Amino acid sequence: MSAQTLIQFKQITKTYQMGEVQVHALQNMNVEITDGEFIVIVGPSGSGKTTTLNLLGGLDSPTSGELIISGTDVAHYDEKALTTYRRDKIGFIFQFFNLLPTLTARENVEFALELVESNGTQVQDRALNLLEKVGLAERADHFPSQLSGGEQQRTAIARALAKNPLILLADEPTGNLDFRVGRKVLRVMQDLNRQDGRTVVLVTHNTAIGQIGDRVIHLRDGNIAHIDVNEKPLEAEAIEW
Ligand SMILES: Nc1ncnc2c1ncn2[C@@H]1O[C@H](COP(=O)(O)OP(=O)(O)O)[C@@H](O)[C@H]1O
Ligand SMILES: [Mg+2]
Repeated sequence: MSAQTLIQFKQITKTYQMGEVQVHALQNMNVEITDGEFIVIVGPSGSGKTTTLNLLGGLDSPTSGELIISGTDVAHYDEKALTTYRRDKIGFIFQFFNLLPTLTARENVEFALELVESNGTQVQDRALNLLEKVGLAERADHFPSQLSGGEQQRTAIARALAKNPLILLADEPTGNLDFRVGRKVLRVMQDLNRQDGRTVVLVTHNTAIGQIGDRVIHLRDGNIAHIDVNEKPLEAEAIEW
């Protein structure tokens, strides 16, 4: 079977109104992403990376244009439809992990699983499986404060996987991590992409990280400046920053 287009940005524009001033966060963005791709979006601060990811993740809607996901235009979804889209289709990973501090790693993952699965035994089994998948089975009963930054981020990845998302989105996932630790996080994401064929869109200001992507979208001032194709993406372990 040939690769399928999963995501289409068609003339996407996002303008923020700040009092009298209009901020053009994205201008006429056009790009297609194929099912199973590992996409890295790079660009300096303010270039529109987070805006792009928030539109993809249904956290915000574009001002104009079409955003086609699996054949459906989500650009005009209302709040309710966006909530359902986010819940069913999107796994989000953030720079500061956003784990619940009063829950253990396992409970953080279970909490996300309970939104999609009502069978308690299955929730427990699957939470452990997901923590195993990110190499954290031994840390399942630790609280976030008892985990290193890299371990917290891997817990957040396990949590994002709970709903078996169509697309995994990561906004500066290594931005708060030393590069040795950050590489382990990137390794996990690379494995999820390669072994499970999961589509990943990772945003970073760090151009070195672009080398692990199948393609690298370079943003400048809300526009795609150019797109690089990596015929042979680097292994996460080879990245230095
Ligand atoms: N909620 C908002 N209100 C007003 N302006 C915003 C908002 N979010 C982002 N912007 C502006 O849009 C531009 C792109 O921001 P962003 O997507 O966060 O960039 P990046 O993630 O690449 O740093 C910036 O000029 C930023 O100030
Ligand atoms: Mg940002």
